Amino acid sequence: MKLTDYEKEMLDGKHGEMKKKSMLALVDLAKFYNVEEFVEIVGCHDDSTVYAGEAQVQFAEYLADNGAKFSVPTTTNAMANDINRWAEQKHDIGTMYATNRIQASHIKMGAVPTWSCAPYQIGVAPSFGQQFASAESNVICYYNSVIGARTNRYAGPLELLCAIAGRVPYYGLHKKENRFAEGLITIGNDIKEEYFEDREIFTLIGYLFGEIAADRIFAIDGIPGKYVSNDVLKQFSATASSSGGVALFHMIGITPEAKTKSEAFGGRVPKEVFEIHIEDLNRAEKMLSSESKDNLDAVLLGCPHLSYNECVQINKLLAGRRIVEKTQFWITISKVTEDLIKESGIYESLLRSGIEIYTDGCILEYRNDKWNSKVIMSDSGKFNSYAFSMRGVQPIIGNLRECVESGIYGKVVKGEKPWKIH
Ligand code: F3S
Repeated sequence: MKLTDYEKEMLDGKHGEMKKKSMLALVDLAKFYNVEEFVEIVGCHDDSTVYAGEAQVQFAEYLADNGAKFSVPTTTNAMANDINRWAEQKHDIGTMYATNRIQASHIKMGAVPTWSCAPYQIGVAPSFGQQFASAESNVICYYNSVIGARTNRYAGPLELLCAIAGRVPYYGLHKKENRFAEGLITIGNDIKEEYFEDREIFTLIGYLFGEIAADRIFAIDGIPGKYVSNDVLKQFSATASSSGGVALFHMIGITPEAKTKSEAFGGRVPKEVFEIHIEDLNRAEKMLSSESKDNLDAVLLGCPHLSYNECVQINKLLAGRRIVEKTQFWITISKVTEDLIKESGIYESLLRSGIEIYTDGCILEYRNDKWNSKVIMSDSGKFNSYAFSMRGVQPIIGNLRECVESGIYGKVVKGEKPWKIH
């Protein structure tokens, strides 16, 4: 392998046992992919933070207790629970204790304690072209596609080793030549531009995108730019990387490596072309949503964590009204966003409306079994994709306005959708 002097020193143990072990694992990864060299990364997003079992906790403790330090700025993903309000969330003490241990070991290694699955909305994202390592799927997809930074889909806890070594094998999406689209998705004429006013359409298209592209790089043409925001791109990234293994997408005319179709494809012709129609949106909605029911137990928002703007929007939609007593309305945000909404007075206003605001946690870890919640609503394609396999419920999908109205009336309130075919 072509190694720099510093990389050789790390492998020789001159920079500590943990750097040596990290490099040895990364050399194995490089050999597996027939990669000859490494590339330095500018940062890492650590996804080994939602408690998944004792092995995960002990692995991080082993690294931290043996002197491992992150050699690049390493932000942390959401945890299983709100660290201060775990009991109110009905998490058990074992999860809380494990989460505390995860937190302590990652901070000991020098993590930037963001505890958020949308770190890019709180000011700590890499820049265009920078090399990075992440294992959180929505972050990978957003960084690659929306920012133009470069990361492969690393598996947690491998990203911890990347952060300790400050390097990754130079392959896959780290290289410009591997970042061009191979397939194209277009929007059919029956999907009118004004349909994009309803943010839910981005979640449905994101779902279809993941289904078609799987783990390949595809571009999508025909998305009207005036309806695209960071929040919409967040939901698109999270959904496409859940229904498929999407690590990078190009939105022609919108994302930075796809200013033109030719740029997205590196001047080549798409190998495959798919067109999305109304009936596809209808099917995506059916895949992401159970049928509307009158009674509503809970509205759960924040997968990925809500941005400041989304909190402002929810507050506006509430317009001083209260969530009905029998329906829980939870939002999850980062501590940074919590500070911002406290400063602007929105925090108090949301509380007065009966919204429960939790920080740092993962809303997918909601204990519907303990709350006996059967009918749940969310605006998130990722949450709705995983809720059945992880929590045994199939939530109802709705946009932010519908989620708020449903919370106020305690029953599912959904507007007419042009893609709804009865
Ligand atoms: Fe975040 Fe958990 Fe969703 S980590 S992206 S709230 S699954």
